[in-house]
Amino acid sequence: MLQTRTRRRAWIAGLATVVMAGAGFALSTQFANAQQSTLRSGADALGIDIGVAVNDSLLQNDSTYRNTIATQFNSVTAENGMKMEAVQPSQGSFNFSQGDRLIAFAQENDMSVHGHTLVWHNQSPGWVQNLSGEALRQAMEDHITTTMNHWEGDVATWDVVNEVVGDSNGQLRDSFWLRGLGEGYIQQAFEYARAADPSADLYMNDYSIDGINAKSDTYYQMAQDLVSQNLLDGMGFQAHLILGQVPGNMEQNLQRFADLGLKVRITELDVRIQMPASQQELEQQAEDFRRVVDICTNIADCSGVTVWGLRDGDSWVPDVFEGYGAPLLYNDDYTTKPAYDAVLEVLGGTPPDDDTTPPDDTTPPPTGDGDCTAVIDVVNDWGSGWQGNVLITAGDSAVSGWTLNWTWPSGQSISSSWNADISSSGSSVTASDVGWNANIAAGQTMNAWGFVGSGASASPQVTCTAG
Ligand code: XIL
Repeated sequence: MLQTRTRRRAWIAGLATVVMAGAGFALSTQFANAQQSTLRSGADALGIDIGVAVNDSLLQNDSTYRNTIATQFNSVTAENGMKMEAVQPSQGSFNFSQGDRLIAFAQENDMSVHGHTLVWHNQSPGWVQNLSGEALRQAMEDHITTTMNHWEGDVATWDVVNEVVGDSNGQLRDSFWLRGLGEGYIQQAFEYARAADPSADLYMNDYSIDGINAKSDTYYQMAQDLVSQNLLDGMGFQAHLILGQVPGNMEQNLQRFADLGLKVRITELDVRIQMPASQQELEQQAEDFRRVVDICTNIADCSGVTVWGLRDGDSWVPDVFEGYGAPLLYNDDYTTKPAYDAVLEVLGGTPPDDDTTPPDDTTPPPTGDGDCTAVIDVVNDWGSGWQGNVLITAGDSAVSGWTLNWTWPSGQSISSSWNADISSSGSSVTASDVGWNANIAAGQTMNAWGFVGSGASASPQVTCTAG
């Protein structure tokens, strides 16, 4: 973390140089004016990475793509270009061209590079999948060593192993690596990686481990073991999420890994929507992005958040999840989506619309009472139902009564509740205080009330009105 903060200050100092040098991918002069309102300036001020997965052919061919990435992000990951099939397509013949191109771009724009990935069951060349035993072990060692040596000093963090745990009951994934080398291959991979570049931070990375579950529990145990041998520095949570389904215990989950002395990182964030996406769904998506980035900013050892692609049309989602799309921050014409504004706000920036003075006919906020915010915290989920606790926070002045409104994203309902008056109409819910829990002191958070929900657990955006 300290390293990251130091590097960020260096970036600010280097900014003038970058703008004046007019380097290969020099930023436009608008950049200087816009810098208070970019994701990048916000993340720099917080000392965290805001990253994006980069598509190699767009990087080469689309200057708007390059400029948007250089302006808005301070970190990049190769979407495909550092995977084994790209780097070592045939045994012993290495092709670093895509990664070299990305690193050159990152260095010209003073961005960090997250390496993805060394040992994975997908996008590995055929030749390695046909090996086993000593030949496979040697191939793994050679691949890790040669790749990390080549980019030593240029790649700050590496996903050493990717997706090594399966999707049911927390067992190791049945892959050619496991079959050919046995369980010890994961630790071996980290030993080779540590030796190849002792200055790089070494990560494990996977999907569906964003909340607390059997799969993330397995990683937690592996992490304890690797940390005790000084082989692991970070845990990557891909966060390929479905609209409205940020796990209620995601922060608690990341925190338990951070408590092991690890950095945590959200490595491949996207929030997919069943197409076509409505305006309301895009607003919900903004809240999901807001929540995930907020979790990272709440955890001291969260090194950053990377989104898995720039524009919706660049995303892998429609190819893989039938009927889903629109999972990212940008539209295809490079205009920003509500999710962009939400991320910018969490990072401390101001979306352009909020810069303008409100029109005269804007209804002023109620006077004589404070403002408030509220979140639904999913504290338990037993499959057929779940428990939500509702936390209400008063703003700068005290609150002496509250009413909450929200819309369930996907058919949830409340089966029982305590300490609030509830009324529902379709998917809309209104909840208000029951007198004794009406008063919240300025700046305080009250665990005000709770309920048992049916359907999939959810944390929709809640509007809190004080008074
Ligand atoms: C995806 C890329 O986005 C696609 O372009 C490619 O065809 C397949 O891989 N988990 C990972 C990423 O770790 O490497 C994957 O990226 C998405 C899921």
